Amino acid sequence: MLLELVEQYLKNNKINLINTTFLGFTVVIVIFGSLITVVEPILPDFIKQSFRYGKHKHNGPEIALVSRMEVPKSWFSHFYVFAFSWALLALYLVLKGIIMHTTAPDYVLEFLDFVAGGAENRKILINSNSALVASVLMTLQCARRFYETNFVQIFSKKSKMNLSHYMVGYLHYFGAILALLLNTEGFVRGSLPSSFSFTKITLLQYFCIFVFHFSWSQQYKSNMILVNLRKNPNTGKVETEKHLMPTGGFFNVVSSPHMFFEILMYVSLLGIVGKSFTWKLAVVWVFSNQLMNALLTHKWYKENFKNYPKQRKALIPFLL
Ligand SMILES: NC(=O)c1ccc[n+]([C@@H]2O[C@H](COP(=O)([O-])OP(=O)(O)OC[C@H]3O[C@@H](n4cnc5c(N)ncnc54)[C@H](OP(=O)(O)O)[C@@H]3O)[C@@H](O)[C@H]2O)c1
Repeated sequence: MLLELVEQYLKNNKINLINTTFLGFTVVIVIFGSLITVVEPILPDFIKQSFRYGKHKHNGPEIALVSRMEVPKSWFSHFYVFAFSWALLALYLVLKGIIMHTTAPDYVLEFLDFVAGGAENRKILINSNSALVASVLMTLQCARRFYETNFVQIFSKKSKMNLSHYMVGYLHYFGAILALLLNTEGFVRGSLPSSFSFTKITLLQYFCIFVFHFSWSQQYKSNMILVNLRKNPNTGKVETEKHLMPTGGFFNVVSSPHMFFEILMYVSLLGIVGKSFTWKLAVVWVFSNQLMNALLTHKWYKENFKNYPKQRKALIPFLL
């Protein structure tokens, strides 16, 4: 009953839940990120404590209520369990549609109609060939992050994040993976997926696959540099949970190469599912949140390491 009312409301007002979520997240991050960057000293502690997390967490007076809403940063690993499963499910549906040459099951179409605010809001913008390529790449990314966060990464026990960051992580992957299906052949009522062929992949798409692969492997290398900072190089045992100064690889040019490559991966997927408005919003959202985080991280490194390399930028090599 409640679900039907919500469905009717979304339909009447043509509200696409995923677009609204990405847009809302972007507005919030830009407003609070700008306030933190420009007028942090005069902001109330609850804003600073809620927004900052990990190594650049708020160091001033703690607000008890906000502290109670904090969860271990190691819980990042939870949303990659979800993201990997969700991406696998999407990949399975895309593949099944192409192999069986059938439209997605009715319950999937109903669910997609619901989140898009009605079937009228779902026109075909992505062909099934491109959707398959994008789903494979997204699944690879979620799989690698699942592996890293659950088996490799060393989170300090002290590192915390606000519950809102934790919820945003789930919503991000929920929306990003659905974005690959919402306007896709075989997932839009009355459409059928076409057969897959490598010859249908355009030159631009091949280029984007290359950029994605490069970013994917460089993000892994950057994450391993961070992991190894906390290990004894001879024994491989964890020695410290401190935040140290990373060097090597793309850390020589930016403070947060893993965030730079995160953005590049989303941009390269844009070259593959280019006409999807939802994916464009996802890219804007990822860019804004990674930029804000990278700026705070860069400031933190400069404040904490006197010998921090002057030429190193925050996020984009040689530029920013
Ligand atoms: N797509 C999106 O919208 C989105 C949003 C957020 C994050 N992400 C991605 O998720 C990944 C993780 O993000 P994050 O914010 O957790 O990055 P992060 O703060 O750099 O942390 C990554 C890992 O490295 C450790 N670490 C960080 N700096 C270190 C240092 N100086 N010395 C030793 N260890 C250090 C952290 O330990 P501690 O936990 O102890 O700090 C954590 O285990 C990134 O690749 C990012 O691009 C994506």
